[in-house]
Amino acid sequence: MQVHDIAVIRGDGIGPELVDAALAVLGAASAKGGFELRYTEVDAGADTYRRTGTACSPEDLEYLRTGVAATLKGPVGLPDVRFPDGTEAGLLGGILRIGLDAYANVRPALLLPGVGSALGGIRPGGIDYVIVRENTEGLYASRGKGVGNRWAVSDTLMTTREGTLRICRRAFELAAARRGAPGDGRHRVTCVDKSNVLRSHALFREVFFEVAAEFPDIEAETLYADAAAQALVLRPGDFDVLVMENFLGDVLSDLGGATVGGISLCGSGNIGDSSAYFEPIHGSAPSIAGKGLANPIGQILAAAMMLDHLGHPDTAALVRAAVAAALEAGEIRLAQDGSAAGGPGAVAKAVADRVA
Ligand code: IPM
Ligand code: MN
Repeated sequence: MQVHDIAVIRGDGIGPELVDAALAVLGAASAKGGFELRYTEVDAGADTYRRTGTACSPEDLEYLRTGVAATLKGPVGLPDVRFPDGTEAGLLGGILRIGLDAYANVRPALLLPGVGSALGGIRPGGIDYVIVRENTEGLYASRGKGVGNRWAVSDTLMTTREGTLRICRRAFELAAARRGAPGDGRHRVTCVDKSNVLRSHALFREVFFEVAAEFPDIEAETLYADAAAQALVLRPGDFDVLVMENFLGDVLSDLGGATVGGISLCGSGNIGDSSAYFEPIHGSAPSIAGKGLANPIGQILAAAMMLDHLGHPDTAALVRAAVAAALEAGEIRLAQDGSAAGGPGAVAKAVADRVA
């Protein structure tokens, strides 16, 4: 039997209960798919930082980089673990994204059945696009580099040719491999930038068109970021794959999440050439931890993306179909605030039963 070594970072707040739910689903999925997932837990996150002074030790980072096929990660962060200026202490995200060179942050926005869109009047699947967020440079280049002074602070928006080439290639490859295309049936990559103002984004766009020429079957279009924010609300059904600089991807992926029932329903992958980790796009919500309210769908969909990455696309599709069917049948019931009736355990059971 095929065996994959997987690292598990349970995370802070609601992280552990979400990860437990995803592991229950993965148990059913791997049995069905005829492969084995062998887990090793890695101690990382805000609580780890508080206890040990680092959010992830260099040895553990090296293990995540070279010792496993992929990592499943819960949300991390605690409100009292912060630098004095309010920025994140520990920076696990920064450590992993840079340390694993996980340069592509892949964030699908898919409207599932049984979930109302905040936009109203959209059928399931009527929103189905993927944001490919550059994950190692852009406006996050100064992440973790100290707080500056209190008079004037500048951050560098770093855009390199190499970094842009690889993220744009990833976006076009994803568009080529994706099943669903927008209503007109044509695959499309949209470059979102502010190249009318920012030199760094102008380079991004230039390189985007260079890469587009390598993929003549895929439509390449561009949209300024402000117009993109508008279009993702007014005509989300037109989009297929969108590629953009780090900070824009952070903002627009939350916008996308809000239109498909909330970010609690969104999974994501942080994927490099030789390492990858998978996590929900939302935070660790410590105020509801342990109360049986947290919604694990984002974590479960992140786990499904991990199965895709491990080379089990059919099993991944089975998990996604099980989530959709359980929502449609009312076996998973979501409240207006995104919480799930019965908590993560009940959602996991509904999905795992359908997978089995
Ligand atoms: C995300 C998060 C992080 C980010 C935060 C926690 C620093 O919002 O993964 O989108 O901005 O990248
Ligand atoms: Mn974010």
